[in-house]
Amino acid sequence: MTPSPGTTAELLAKGELTVRGRIREASNAALYCTVVQGEREAACIYKPVAGERPLWDFPDGTLAGREVAAYEVSEATGWGLVPPTVLRDGPYGEGMCQLWIEPDPEPGPDDGLLALVDGEEPGEGWKAIGFAEVGEGRTALLVHADDERLRRLAVLDAVINNADRKGGHLLPAAGGRLYGIDHGVTFNTENKLRTLLWGWAGEPLTAEATGVLATLREGLADGGPLAATLSELITGAELDATRARVDALLASGRHPEPGGEWPAIPWPPV
Ligand SMILES: Nc1ncnc2c1ncn2[C@@H]1O[C@H](COP(=O)(O)OP(=O)(O)O)[C@@H](O)[C@H]1O
Ligand SMILES: [Mg+2]
Repeated sequence: MTPSPGTTAELLAKGELTVRGRIREASNAALYCTVVQGEREAACIYKPVAGERPLWDFPDGTLAGREVAAYEVSEATGWGLVPPTVLRDGPYGEGMCQLWIEPDPEPGPDDGLLALVDGEEPGEGWKAIGFAEVGEGRTALLVHADDERLRRLAVLDAVINNADRKGGHLLPAAGGRLYGIDHGVTFNTENKLRTLLWGWAGEPLTAEATGVLATLREGLADGGPLAATLSELITGAELDATRARVDALLASGRHPEPGGEWPAIPWPPV
């Protein structure tokens, strides 16, 4: 999709891209860059398609295309959970370019999103993910915050079929914003939902989420704007599977529960 003039997406797509450094811990080539367009400047991460390692279970499309598709779905929800992300050409060829999110400069004392607790109950303000081995034969309960931003992200992940929602992919930012990143392994036609955000599994969707899913259904219908955008980024079968996931969520009215054939929790969780 052509980004609208004046938007961050346009700056990312059209600005002059300069590589500043390589992100070491990344599993695929990921470069920290700046983009400059006239007076405007931003930091971003650029992941060239040429630097992608092939994945046996994601034989079609590209990680970059799926990252942009995840952003487009997030935009269609109106929740703004994924930083602006575009496909563009760069010094190492076509790739994805995503706005760099600076960590929240003033995190509050109650801003923790994940924790390990003793005992079997998550405690007030937390939701249980599952039991985790914490060494020496001891287990502890892994929990995530009962936070409406995470709950929205859980719905987005169910729609995009995110196979890798771990703690390091949650970025709290200034102003109480929370972003999810690293959406290369998404949109598979098979259920691969692998996430920490299982705290609402089986619970009714909020009325807000149901409304958003209905909007997504319209956008994803044949000839709908989201369908048109996604058809450039993922395969036709993946688009059909996305529609089917939205329909299934609306039909059940509940957050999905772990499937079984796939490890449901990313490990390590951070
Ligand atoms: N948009 C972003 N804003 C801030 N930090 C980011 C962003 N994207 C990635 N990072 C940082 O770079 C690391 C590697 O990026 P990630 O998307 O996880 O790459 P990979 O696909 O190789 O796992 C992340 O763990 C995070 O610390
Ligand atoms: Mg990663």
